[in-house]
Amino acid sequence: MNARLAPRMNVIGASPTAEISNKLRELAARGADVINLGEGELDFPTPPHVCAAGIKAIETGETKYTAVSGTAALKAAIARKFERENRLSYGPGQIIAGSGAKQLIFNAFLATLSEGDEVLVPAPYWVSYPDMVRLTGAAPVIVPTTAAEGWKLTPAALRKALTPRVKWLVLNSPNNPTGAVYTRAELVALAEVLAGHDTLVMADDIYEHIVHDGSFAAPAAAMPGLFDRILTVNGVSKGYSMTGWRLGYAGGPEWLIRAMDVLQSQSTSNPSTISQAAAIAALDGGTGFVDDWKRVLLARRARVLRAIDGIEGLTALPTPGAFYVFADCSGLFGARSPEGKVLENDLDVAGYILEAAHVGMVHGSAFGTPGHLRIAYAIDDSRLDQAMTRIATAVRALKLPMNAWPVNA
Ligand SMILES: Cc1ncc(COP(=O)(O)O)c(C=O)c1O
Repeated sequence: MNARLAPRMNVIGASPTAEISNKLRELAARGADVINLGEGELDFPTPPHVCAAGIKAIETGETKYTAVSGTAALKAAIARKFERENRLSYGPGQIIAGSGAKQLIFNAFLATLSEGDEVLVPAPYWVSYPDMVRLTGAAPVIVPTTAAEGWKLTPAALRKALTPRVKWLVLNSPNNPTGAVYTRAELVALAEVLAGHDTLVMADDIYEHIVHDGSFAAPAAAMPGLFDRILTVNGVSKGYSMTGWRLGYAGGPEWLIRAMDVLQSQSTSNPSTISQAAAIAALDGGTGFVDDWKRVLLARRARVLRAIDGIEGLTALPTPGAFYVFADCSGLFGARSPEGKVLENDLDVAGYILEAAHVGMVHGSAFGTPGHLRIAYAIDDSRLDQAMTRIATAVRALKLPMNAWPVNA
């Protein structure tokens, strides 16, 4: 590492999802026809009424600084959203908007954590939580979950992991990368364990609108006894296909929101005024179109699962929420590529498929769960089919050690 860099740069790495995208861009620049199944965003355009509100903001001169935590109009729209969709009541001092949910999570950690503190992060987890925690000097404590338990934290595992050093528990439902959705009853059971501790809860509800099986329950609503120590983080990126607008928001205790506001005031200030205006239109404009999106996504999920069924060495279960399939690729370990490389882990498998099929996916280790691949299926149907066919062809080209695959793989 360059000696001019601060030591804190030793404890974090570049986001693996961004790295996959960079590799794909390099391949594309060399003329390859690449398909990216690594990106965590919908391919649908931002709804026209939302775009129109952004354009209007530019045309009417909404182009100046606002309050750091967002305009009063945006905060009122966020409060209405929380009331209407989650039955959560937050006053203006309990709401903050920022440049993406990512910034808000980062600021909440930075405002509260220091050396010696711990954050419980159930795995598989969104790639950024552990590194954000490390940047504050605190330590992420990874709590593994299993496919057999629906990739969800159990009360027993939580009880075992809780110590006086634990400052936050991260709950991400629907989960990226597994799509796991906690039921109200499951959240209530976790709340019973948390009641005896002081831990804050980071409820990352960003995929709230993309639930295929079951229904979404907001932790802050399902755990009313803990309301005062839950930070509900959400945003317009996933539910409204607005990843590029960079607009997230959070509701939580006033002391914490105020501290996040101070941090934001010394870094990025208010989120873009254009995005704020667009977010008001999004939050107030209803979510009717999401049902159409979900129908398309569900059909794509089925396409991916069907394709995986036909690929020896890969297995996957339906993912209840979000737009990912989290496939087990451990059946390919030990296989030899036509170039003679033995695939020893998920990174090798993802690398091989990237080179051989020009299809990018994120390896499970990046989410704290080796032996898997995350397939983001929010891309055009025909490209998705093409990607799955290419993966199947690349896997067929592998030479396997005798009896490497279980009979029912
Ligand atoms: C679980 C999770 N939380 C937060 C974010 C960040 O969202 P935003 O675009 O609002 O920063 C993402 C984006 O991929 C995510 O997957």
